[in-house]
Amino acid sequence: MKFFIDTANPDEIRKGYEMGVIDGVTTNPSLIAKEKRDFDSLIKEICGIIHDLPISLEVVGSKAEEMIQEAQTLSRLGDNIVVKIPMTTEGLKAIKALVSRGIKTNTTLVFSPTQALLAAKAGSTYISPFIGRLDDISQTGMELIEQIVTIFNNYDFESEVIVASIRHPIHVLEAALIGADIATIPYKVIEQLSKHPLTDIGIEKFLEDWKKIPKN
Ligand code: G3P
Repeated sequence: MKFFIDTANPDEIRKGYEMGVIDGVTTNPSLIAKEKRDFDSLIKEICGIIHDLPISLEVVGSKAEEMIQEAQTLSRLGDNIVVKIPMTTEGLKAIKALVSRGIKTNTTLVFSPTQALLAAKAGSTYISPFIGRLDDISQTGMELIEQIVTIFNNYDFESEVIVASIRHPIHVLEAALIGADIATIPYKVIEQLSKHPLTDIGIEKFLEDWKKIPKN
């Protein structure tokens, strides 16, 4: 299972990368706006930290031609840039065109299995169903992941499923049990995944006992 880090914060990206568990980065306009920085210098800094792993950057145009144009500009920032395209009929047109130009895509804002099916048919490299936002409206987001994984396995689609809009460690656990390809995880949740109270208690006890050992 791959872990992407879902943030545009360079410090979080650096820390996640140094931990050795990060296989890519995903951003979106809201995450970038949170950094309150000039877009170009922020993206340059992120690309300076991560050269060898996919970085998803999102387009904001609504027409296919606009998305294609933006995607081409973004993809010039590095070989590892993946262009995030929203799940619309215009987005599907753009995905098809970008695939033929060898540009990797991540279809975003996916909330139904049939949207995922369309994006896979268009040839999207990655597909991002947003599970937390479904949970927020009292629909079980993880059921969507189960359905998408089943459909993709039925037909051997090559698109990889990125479980997105993850809010807590149980989302990651459930995504792993289902067999989703990737989870894109906020830094805070990556930290939470590493913690267990018995680990902390164990370390404290070992240190106390270590102090009792006579040393010359
Ligand atoms: O990867 C998509 C993610 O950033 C959306 O998360 O928490 O805004 O629903 P959230």
